[in-house]
Parts: sequence; C-alpha cells; structure tokens
Amino acid sequence: MYLGVNIDHIALLREARAINDPDPLDALGIARRAGADQITIHLREDRRHINDDDVARIMQNSHLPVNIECSINPEMIEIVGAFRPARVTLVPEKREEVTTEGGLDLGGNYEALDQAVFYLKRLEIEVSLFIDPTVENIKSAKGLAVDWVELHTGKYANIYAMLNTNLAQTKHCIKELNVERTRLKKMLKTSIKELEDSAIAAKNDYGLKVAVGHGLNYQNVSDIVKIQEIEELNIGQSIIARSIFTGFENAVKEMRDLIK
Ligand code: PXP
Repeated sequence: MYLGVNIDHIALLREARAINDPDPLDALGIARRAGADQITIHLREDRRHINDDDVARIMQNSHLPVNIECSINPEMIEIVGAFRPARVTLVPEKREEVTTEGGLDLGGNYEALDQAVFYLKRLEIEVSLFIDPTVENIKSAKGLAVDWVELHTGKYANIYAMLNTNLAQTKHCIKELNVERTRLKKMLKTSIKELEDSAIAAKNDYGLKVAVGHGLNYQNVSDIVKIQEIEELNIGQSIIARSIFTGFENAVKEMRDLIK
C-alpha cells in the first residue's frame, strides 16, 4: 500500500507569516527518505497555501511522483496540466470551506469532468476523481474513463473521532453514553463497509486503481489498511501536525510503519 504525503499544510504555515519559511520544497527529500511514495499538493483557486511557484519548484525537484489536486475549473485544469504531473486528482472546491468537505458530484458536473479528463489524458497524465464511497459513484467514474478513484474518508474519520474523543469527555451519563456509543459504532461499521464495497467494486468490477484520503491519522488508519483493494493513502494534516513534536521524517516513518 503506497503512501502519498500531502504537504499543503507546510505552505499553510508559511502563509501565516507570508514569508518563505517553512518551504514545502524542503519536505521532498525528507519524505522520500522516510518512505513516502508520492508527494500530493492541492493548487487551490484562492492559492491559500500551495502557489504556482511552489508547484513549479516541486515539479522540478521531486524525485517522487507528484499528484496535484485541483478543481474542475477549465482554467485550473490548463494551469495544472502544463506542469505535467504524474497524476491530477479532481476535487470539488468551495472558497468558503476550510478543507475539501465532500466528494465530487459526478452527475451534476458530468460535462466539465468529461472535458477535464479528456484534456489531461491527452497530456498523458493519470486522472483520479475524489468521490464519496458509493458503488454508484464508482460506476460513473468508470464511465468517465479515469485511472483512479480516491475515496473520501472524511465521514469515517469524523465518526471515529466522535466515538473516541467526545464520548470520553461525557463519562458522567453512563446510560446515554452507552446508547450513543452503540449508535456510533454502528455508523462506523457502515462507513467502513461503504469504503470496502466501493474499493472492491472499483478494483474488481471496474478495473480502477483505488486511493483513499481525508482525515486519516495515526489512530484511525488501521481499519482502513485492512481493505486490501486500496492501493494508496493520501495523508496530510495528521502527519504535518505530528511533525511539530517529532519531526517530519519521524512522522512520515511512523505512518509508513503503521500502514505496513
Ligand atoms: N486527499 C484529498 C483529495 C484531499 O483533498 C485531502 C485534503 O487536502 C487529502 C487527501 C488529505 O487530507 P488530510 O489533510 O485530512 O490528511
């Protein structure tokens, strides 16, 4: 199972002071040494973290394949395509969101997606679609002739967090707590099953490569790596957060070891 390390949050920290420190470029060699298989970056329309100059320098210096996430806006597709990354992951993008909140609406954006995929494939760039984990979405993704799907793990991660964080703080009301815990455990099981069924359908029924990402961390990743059809995990926030205390190289290595 491959690990793509998303380094957007390094650029986000830089932007907090609008100076060139920390430089996401410095992450490339360390990530590779620590066992990452891919560098993932998101060139947002508002350039809130990674900017065009970062992309140019990362493309020039990365010895690992680069996966660029971007919206389906034709202007963005053209900009990102010109960098010729190994892969482009198309994601929904809203200016007001803190992070990518859900998967692409494939039906509602069919034409724009079809054009984006055609444009990128002509440049010999692999294309991935960031989607919510439903078999219906997998079927639509196959119809769009992409190489990869990336299943959104945000719902799973949120339920996992509710089960393991919030409940621990409400120990005083035992009966209600048990009811809530049972409900959340059921929800967690369902969300894992959705990911598993989607991964199986994508790989076995439709011949698509399967990545997952969003909200994965050192606690919740273990259920996900049990799904054998998943080929790659893209993880950002939790790795960069851990780096503050243990260093970037250790944080990547730790995640690499957990995945193994
Ligand atoms: N995959 C995709 C498509 C994303 O948009 C993101 C968030 O930028 C990630 C993976 C990584 O998510 P996180 O930072 O929560 O690990």
